[in-house]
Amino acid sequence: MADLDGNRAAKNFAPQTPGVDFGHAIKGAHNLDWGMQHRLGRVLNGATGRTVMLAFDHGYFQGPTSGLERLDLNIAPLGEYADALMCTRGALRATMPPTTGAGLVLRASGGPSVLKELSDEYTAMAIEDAVRLDASAVAVQVFIGGEHESRSIKNLTSLVDDGYRVGVPVLGVTAVGKELTRDARYLGLATRIIAELGAQLVKTYYCEEGFDEVVAGCPVPVIMAGGKKLPELDALTMASNAVRAGAAGVDMGRNIFQSDSPVGMIAAIRAVVHDDATPDEAYGVYLDSKKGA
Ligand code: 5RP
Repeated sequence: MADLDGNRAAKNFAPQTPGVDFGHAIKGAHNLDWGMQHRLGRVLNGATGRTVMLAFDHGYFQGPTSGLERLDLNIAPLGEYADALMCTRGALRATMPPTTGAGLVLRASGGPSVLKELSDEYTAMAIEDAVRLDASAVAVQVFIGGEHESRSIKNLTSLVDDGYRVGVPVLGVTAVGKELTRDARYLGLATRIIAELGAQLVKTYYCEEGFDEVVAGCPVPVIMAGGKKLPELDALTMASNAVRAGAAGVDMGRNIFQSDSPVGMIAAIRAVVHDDATPDEAYGVYLDSKKGA
């Protein structure tokens, strides 16, 4: 408690100045409690409202994949370039430095491996463990149109309810079944359902036609998932198109950790997302990193 010695009488009340409105930097978050907004602010960069999220949660259903053989060697060094990390609690505890300053988006659904029906998921983490790990959000796969569509919705809504109880936002991830087409109609349906049922963030794939309408039709931020490895310039062009269409950034994994210069590629993606660099300018960042390697 401060001592009373030298106390000064208060006088600067600025009675003519209205209360400061901090605005609603994050789409759809203005009615959320302070803690929820604070956690969302650790995922979405305060200056741009966008995120460069490094995804390496693939092992929760695929086991070790190319580029993820050694998370401690391949991924931990990339953490400093990411606004947020999307991973499992197992990977986090076992391989990531607790000193990381990145926001943490923890995979909280799981069940089948690649050997079985992927939509057959359940929730896979207690929300209390997310709080214990200082998570900024938890992530759940939602299989709109999938065999176990309703259960994935139940997984989402139970995590949303738990999240409200403890102040942890939920990222709903659209999982596009093999028989479904990643077009604006489907992505618009899936993202809107996820947001309507309470997710504070939505992640989905990009589509060439109508992605701006997918984003506009979703009342919370839409983050673009990277998808399979593309040539670097193509991946940067996709990321640029997505943020210019209104996406609140990207969540990319394979296009970063399977690149021949992961550090260069995440730096290039940051240029696109946070500096509005053109794909060619960003590609130059990637190439320069290779020269310097
Ligand atoms: C995999 C995921 C990944 O977070 C998402 O697909 C982004 O990774 P990538 O850019 O490699 O697709 O949900 O379970």
